[in-house]
Amino acid sequence: MTKALAVVVPRTRGEEVRRLLASIGVLDHGLRIKTLGDELAIPLSRPLPRDVEERLKSGYEAVVREESFEEVPKRPRTVLEWLSDKLPPHLLAVVPRSWDLIGDIAIVEVPDELSGRERLIAEAILAVHKNVKSVYMKAGPVSGDFRVRELKLIGGEDKSVTIHREHGALLYVDVKSVYFSPRLATERRRVAEQVKDGEVVLDMFSGVGPFAIQIALRKRAIVHAIELNPIAYECLKKNIELNKLKDRVIPHLGDAREVVEEGLLNKFDRVIMNLPERSLDFVDVALKALRGSGILHVYMFKEEPKPVERAEEVVRLKVEELGWRVVRVSYSGTVRQVAPRRWQVVIDCEVSRH
Ligand SMILES: C[S@@+](CC[C@H](N)C(=O)[O-])C[C@H]1O[C@@H](n2cnc3c(N)ncnc32)[C@H](O)[C@@H]1O
Repeated sequence: MTKALAVVVPRTRGEEVRRLLASIGVLDHGLRIKTLGDELAIPLSRPLPRDVEERLKSGYEAVVREESFEEVPKRPRTVLEWLSDKLPPHLLAVVPRSWDLIGDIAIVEVPDELSGRERLIAEAILAVHKNVKSVYMKAGPVSGDFRVRELKLIGGEDKSVTIHREHGALLYVDVKSVYFSPRLATERRRVAEQVKDGEVVLDMFSGVGPFAIQIALRKRAIVHAIELNPIAYECLKKNIELNKLKDRVIPHLGDAREVVEEGLLNKFDRVIMNLPERSLDFVDVALKALRGSGILHVYMFKEEPKPVERAEEVVRLKVEELGWRVVRVSYSGTVRQVAPRRWQVVIDCEVSRH
């Protein structure tokens, strides 16, 4: 209990007086208003100006006097603050400061030093971020053809499906079964903004469709999206529905090479190749998908030094080796760091068959 100056008023006038005190900035939000029979005691953060006190006395039958109050429990503002009395300093130093938030699911990297304390980390995230319902930890690297990572539930609801919002798009994602990174949101918007109305675009490795959906929401373009992982493909179809893009985004299940060769040749103005480990292996198919000329967005992983310059060089060589011409590289840059000295980079390359 804490003693503080209070305005004591009949309960019937309580709300009016509380608002008045709040509006002039003298209400103590850290203390809980209490009931005393037919009266309310409202805690003050500082003494009232004399004229206000007089007005309360004459107009509201109020009395100003000292009272004791319960403190309102403070909600910690950060995970670190929540954990501050629960972990020793050397462990607080390695507590994760950020995590991926996909819809209402948080995905966090827990360092080895905190092994055995994963539940506590999850509890902290759930306590501080009321919008988070489930917390998973990364339990392995992104791997396999589907680029999926093993995840382990460490707190909250046992569910892996959520709806993520990204620049106006609704994205249905099953975090355990598909690749999805919210960290590419800015990059997806950058690409979508370049697309012109009327273009036909191929998203070769679409995942749940964040590039395709973003483009179709922003531009009057038709987007074909190819995905190999059947679960990601189901999410993609749901996302087309969720965003009401049935006539604008056309989903295909299968291997990009086969899908293109079986029915999508000479069709596109632009191809997005977001499979950084293997995009170079598909440049030949991407070129065949273009109608004589167009733009490739090639994503790659490259180590330092000069990751962007070296990626640009290999993309140029690849395109030229396949008998096409690089008209110009309209943009190249890093998208994000994926490991020490290792970057995801993008090369936007205007190409022509002649
Ligand atoms: C790095 S993820 C990118 C997903 C999506 N573009 C995004 O931004 O979230 C690559 C995706 O390509 C899919 N994939 C891998 N090999 C493929 C192939 N040969 N043909 C079509 N999709 C493929 C994977 O299943 C995965 O969903």
